[in-house]
Amino acid sequence: MRERILLTGGAGFIGSHTYVKLVETGYDVWIVDNFENASEDIPDRLASLVGEAPRIIRCDLRDYDSIKAVLGSAHFDAVVHFAARKSVPESETNPIGYYRSNVVGLVNLIDGMRGAGVRNLVFSSSAAVYGATTNVPIAETTPLAPLNAYAETKRAAEDFIRYVARAHPEMRVGVLRYFNPVGAHPSGVIGEAPAQPPSNLVPVLARVATGQLDELKVFGGDYSTRDGTAIRDYIHVIDLAKGHALSLKALLRDKQSHLVNLGTGRGYSVLEMLEAYGRAVGRNLPYRIVDRRAGDAAVSYADIRQAKQILGFEAEQGLAEMCRSSWRYYSQEVGVDTSGADDPRPIIVEPKTSRLSSALFEPGQGPLSGAIQRDGSGQWSRSARLKTPPGYE
Ligand code: UD1
Repeated sequence: MRERILLTGGAGFIGSHTYVKLVETGYDVWIVDNFENASEDIPDRLASLVGEAPRIIRCDLRDYDSIKAVLGSAHFDAVVHFAARKSVPESETNPIGYYRSNVVGLVNLIDGMRGAGVRNLVFSSSAAVYGATTNVPIAETTPLAPLNAYAETKRAAEDFIRYVARAHPEMRVGVLRYFNPVGAHPSGVIGEAPAQPPSNLVPVLARVATGQLDELKVFGGDYSTRDGTAIRDYIHVIDLAKGHALSLKALLRDKQSHLVNLGTGRGYSVLEMLEAYGRAVGRNLPYRIVDRRAGDAAVSYADIRQAKQILGFEAEQGLAEMCRSSWRYYSQEVGVDTSGADDPRPIIVEPKTSRLSSALFEPGQGPLSGAIQRDGSGQWSRSARLKTPPGYE
């Protein structure tokens, strides 16, 4: 019997890539998502990548009865929990919404898991919990110092998980602290939905490349770094998805809770990212150095020893592929001409039959529209355009 996994937020950026990885690994994966901030055509896209319609249940974790009903509807071996909000500026203006989604949602989920006897949880945390620490590489033992409401919700969630694990020792949890997730599936079929307005670096670079933004504003050119701009540990979303598969394996087979950083252990400056993205696009991108952004650390990259030791995790994808895949996805989404790009063509993943009618939907919600097709030249195209507000994982 295949192990059955419930993936919350599986229609989002990291969730959708992890869905594909877990299905490829052999798990029976069910998604719950409220689609509040995910594209309605994600089921079609996932179907085209894995060859069968995903089981997707429209459910909002802020509603305890709904998630309890889902967890009671079948036996699940584990939950991988992505469903959360992640925009720092939005969290500062809407702390109630952020605590409700990121903390109350988790409380409801774990309560439901306990009721249904589900003992294993993989939890999406963030390197944001470390704040602007100057101790690099950042080890998991670094004291936490969140600098904004978003990061505080992740710390609160981690604290809650720790108390749950103490009170209920049969529960096993993998807490994964992501550094800076970027990139997209090599097919270009799924990626980080084009949010407006973006605040993270790579989505901004994508918009500079399309001309939607005039230039990249580089926040600070006077840091004590090799070129004066801030350094981050960018990790390909495909590597992150692999990290989740390894975390699940550690929980299910080795019966082992863990808390690990997921990063590459290597940092790139803003100007290095600008250059790499320009290479992927095929031309230099305009930029201007402006004041530092409040709350930004000068240098942040992961100590990756614990992830390697406990999970056997090591990131494999390099910077060029992070930028290429991001641009492949984004340029297809907005329909721009990519001539001159380093590698404009998607890596073709043979689309398999999608059996959308077998997908699970809330009563009244039919299979979702927006077919993915390939034309004679092998290019992917979609009939629906994405419209996704910022701030979701
Ligand atoms: C940010 C959040 C972090 C969150 C993460 C989610 C802050 C302070 N931190 O991390 O809590 O977990 O996103 O992915 O918001 N940059 C520019 N110009 C831009 C955008 C970014 O120069 O237009 C620079 C930033 O100053 C930073 C680097 O690019 O040095 C990366 O920025 P970003 O992608 O926003 O990630 P973080 O700030 O590391």
